Amino acid sequence: LNVADLICKKRNKGILSREEIQFLIKGYVAGEIPDYQIAALLMAIWFVGMHNTETTDLTLAMADSGERVDLSSIPGVKVDKHSTGGVGDATTLIVAPLVAACGGKVAKMSGRGLGHTGGTLDKLESIPGLSVQQSIDSFIRIVADCGLAIVGQTADLAPADRLLYALRDVTGTIDSIPLIAASIMSKKLVSGSDAIVLDVKTGNGAFMNDMDGSEKLAKTMTAIGAKAGKRTTALITDMNQPLGNAVGNALEVREAIQVLRGELSGDLKTVSLALATQMLLVSGICADEAEARQRVESALSSGEALNRLARMIRAQGGHPEVIEKTELMPRASRQIPVLAGKSGRITRLDTARIGYCALLLGAGRQKKGDSIDPAVGLWMQKRLGDEVTKGEALAVLHVNAEDHIEEAFECFQKAVNIDAGRLEARKLIYKTISG
Ligand code: URA
Repeated sequence: LNVADLICKKRNKGILSREEIQFLIKGYVAGEIPDYQIAALLMAIWFVGMHNTETTDLTLAMADSGERVDLSSIPGVKVDKHSTGGVGDATTLIVAPLVAACGGKVAKMSGRGLGHTGGTLDKLESIPGLSVQQSIDSFIRIVADCGLAIVGQTADLAPADRLLYALRDVTGTIDSIPLIAASIMSKKLVSGSDAIVLDVKTGNGAFMNDMDGSEKLAKTMTAIGAKAGKRTTALITDMNQPLGNAVGNALEVREAIQVLRGELSGDLKTVSLALATQMLLVSGICADEAEARQRVESALSSGEALNRLARMIRAQGGHPEVIEKTELMPRASRQIPVLAGKSGRITRLDTARIGYCALLLGAGRQKKGDSIDPAVGLWMQKRLGDEVTKGEALAVLHVNAEDHIEEAFECFQKAVNIDAGRLEARKLIYKTISG
């Protein structure tokens, strides 16, 4: 097999065989095939796409590139959740404790912020003392004891994804359906859960902007899950504005705690309850949706979900008092409102730009390895469809360092459309797709 021939085959719309895909992935992970050839292959895939069989073969080759987690020593059904990436999306911090409170076991390996989107690990690290770096043994012990644990992926799980992801990030090949599907599903297949719920984001803050692409991505991933013997359901949810009002690490943890305390309603809570409901269904813990929904709602109102989060925080070395006193988390030194330049209605929010605004303030990384500031970010005061009066606050920026404030300010202003126009009809949860 010759790498250059395989790149040409893909470029010319050929279908790569399982053997060819395995050869490419094994060779790349072993350091025998250089970045520039794999970069060319990724770009060919970006343009030409992949047949379903190729996407499945790619996923399996990536999953087989490292070890697999064995969760069989944990009693009960293990159920996982993954989002394709969004802004202001702290659902994992709400959903995992809710499902644990209903008897599911959530052994979650999460990621860091990616481009304009946030990452659960970065959010959790704003809790003083909490460590997302746990050995596999301690991960399993925490899940068995608390019903949930949220940790970083160890280097020996799906190493092909780590390498390919870093290359995609710098070669304009992130937003490709087969590449996203294989990236996410390879990690889910090795992380040991029995059932999976996927939150596929659609809209201007998602990697897939349009409904056709998002639906295709959801169908591709659920089909891969089914083929691999994992029950998989995907919800397609809206990302045409930040899901919660908070964008930034400690701010998002605070908002998630407020939802778990029963103090906040809104889109973040609605999507979280829907995801948790699907997790109880896909795992077989509940037989019908009405029962699942009722279990989830009582886990929230009884305080048991909040209690589970506190237990997980303690088990991972963090200070569980943040549950009562969110002010124990880092706070930015200054709060600067962004005011509306005119009166009217908010008819569009550029969600990726809002994510980028928080990143400029230090909530995310401009380049690989940058450190982040857990305290900074922004809090939306207005949402899509709201009427605003000139001079009213649209959002409050939470700021520490002086650099980039002007840029972040302008970035936010450019992200908001205020006019007399009509709002496009939108839903929060568009579709449920099962594999
Ligand atoms: N999240 C992932 O893990 N991989 C992708 O390719 C996109 C989002």
